[in-house]
Amino acid sequence: MVLQGGILGLAGLLAQGCSSWRAPFAPAPLGFGAVPASLLDQVTLPSEYRYDVLYRWGDASGIAAGMPAFRPDASNSAAEQALQAGMHHDGMHFFPLAGQPDRALLVLNHEYTDEQLLHTNGVQQWTAEKVQKSQHAMGVSVIELRRNGAGQWEQVLPSPLARRIHGNTPMAIGGPAAGHPLMRTVLEPTGTRVNGTLANCAMGVTPWGTYLTCEENFHGYFGAAPDTGFQADAAQKRYGTVAGGQWVDWFRFDERFDLARHPHEANRFGWVVEIDPLDPDSTPIKRTALGRKRQESATCRLTADGRVAVYMGDDARFEYLYKFVSTRPVQPGGAAANRDLLDHGTLYAARLDADGRGHWLPLVHGQGGLDDRAGFASQAEVVVKARLAADHVGATPLDRPEWVAVHPHTGEVFVTLTNNTQRGGHGRPGADAASPRAPNPFGHITRLREAGADAGALQFEWDHFVLAGAPAVPGAGTRYPSADADIFGAPDGLHFDSGGLLWIQTDIAGQNIGKGPYAQLGNNAMLCADLATGRIKRFLTGPNGCEITGCVVTPDRRTLFVNIQHPGEASEDGDRGHNSAWPDGTTPGSARPRSATLVVQRRDGGIVGT
Ligand code: FEO
Ligand code: CA
Ligand code: CA
Ligand code: CA
Repeated sequence: MVLQGGILGLAGLLAQGCSSWRAPFAPAPLGFGAVPASLLDQVTLPSEYRYDVLYRWGDASGIAAGMPAFRPDASNSAAEQALQAGMHHDGMHFFPLAGQPDRALLVLNHEYTDEQLLHTNGVQQWTAEKVQKSQHAMGVSVIELRRNGAGQWEQVLPSPLARRIHGNTPMAIGGPAAGHPLMRTVLEPTGTRVNGTLANCAMGVTPWGTYLTCEENFHGYFGAAPDTGFQADAAQKRYGTVAGGQWVDWFRFDERFDLARHPHEANRFGWVVEIDPLDPDSTPIKRTALGRKRQESATCRLTADGRVAVYMGDDARFEYLYKFVSTRPVQPGGAAANRDLLDHGTLYAARLDADGRGHWLPLVHGQGGLDDRAGFASQAEVVVKARLAADHVGATPLDRPEWVAVHPHTGEVFVTLTNNTQRGGHGRPGADAASPRAPNPFGHITRLREAGADAGALQFEWDHFVLAGAPAVPGAGTRYPSADADIFGAPDGLHFDSGGLLWIQTDIAGQNIGKGPYAQLGNNAMLCADLATGRIKRFLTGPNGCEITGCVVTPDRRTLFVNIQHPGEASEDGDRGHNSAWPDGTTPGSARPRSATLVVQRRDGGIVGT
């Protein structure tokens, strides 16, 4: 979606939802030289491309002059971290500033923290200071960019528009769950305000120019001491907010994360959060009408009649794909004119039938058995317990729905199902039409075509765009859309540029990279797909242990921003950072690895991906 200053005329918005698009002249896609799979601790691009490292964990965000510098021993304080780039960059978008062709905002998520790297002595001993630093290293960065005389984008330091939003930033709660008893706590008895956003993974952009950040794996930050006797109820178990489920010790130092004392605090996470990036003083708002889940993606598309549809994944095994459609149409006039649009509408979960058809099933109180007897006394309870509501109406359990990308011209919806090693396991669902491999270690990408190419439709058709993986592995069951496609595994990040090229990013788990069935696939990578031919080419390979996630091509298609997340993540045993020194060092172990944003351009200034 091309945003000019965050505001498009309504005619322009409606044109984006029109299916009668004709391709303008464009250079041939995928003209670059494919990059081979790599196990090197470096970023590799086609030789005709170059990159700069723009914004690493710990770099100044630009909020104020005299920002604290990153200290390589990770001894920056929690207060300093709140002014610096967070950790583990993820979803991202580029917002041109109206009337200033060489200025823009880059808004990006910081998904989670690697506590071993975040603190000088790792997790040897938890302190309140460490907890706070961890909270400040998540959330969102808003940074300002300028294009210099050489045509390259660089950070503006300081900038009045720069902002860090993190795990303690005050925000509001909107939509049907606002104020509901399930959203109230002793510390915040109105249920309308909350401090912070966590686990910010994929994202979305509204037609009115706001940014949507998605709260994914929030559950592990909540816990309870064994001696409290805390017992999770059915909904808490479904969302994983259980004692003993946490991976950090926040609840011992910050009482609102203690499930025994504040069991409803976790209900205030797992949402889509709307942020107006143009107004650094604006209050982010959690939009509860969109449902609570381990939120992945909030990809917007206008319906034929000018409302907004938001496509969302829920990244856990056997979870669902969702869509929200607003009640009212989008109005011209930017964020101010559409302030509460996402608070009113209908939430749906997807059912994918074996005949290639599908249905959007409404999650509406009083419909489809979502009533008191089923445990849903109101729409507020439906959205807080959206997973249980989707169970009840018979949505189709999928293999970890991650990102959703909508083709800018045709409206086709592409969804990454990153992998599911438990499909077909003991007591778990087996293969079905939508998830045809059990187990599914390599993931797939599913394509939906809404009826009438209308994002507001209640029916769709679906097929698989690719069944990913290494074809040489016996029983891999791969299927690529062309014989000469480059192979990949665990598709995750997904982005359509304005020319309709599909950028695919991968997230093979650190402990699997280069091993066993994954050996052929190399380090995580980014590929580019041309839908007209089915050709897929590997464009970028990342350093050791990283995931590639978060991608945006500028409206002029001359620059690509891409995030390298968690370089050095090698194993599940806490052995962090020993296999990578990217981007600051050249040999593994010589520097603390840092997630970072890359700025990628063609050396000749041409259109990326062609
Ligand atoms: Fe944060 Fe599901 O990726
Ligand atoms: Ca992801
Ligand atoms: Ca992932
Ligand atoms: Ca990940």
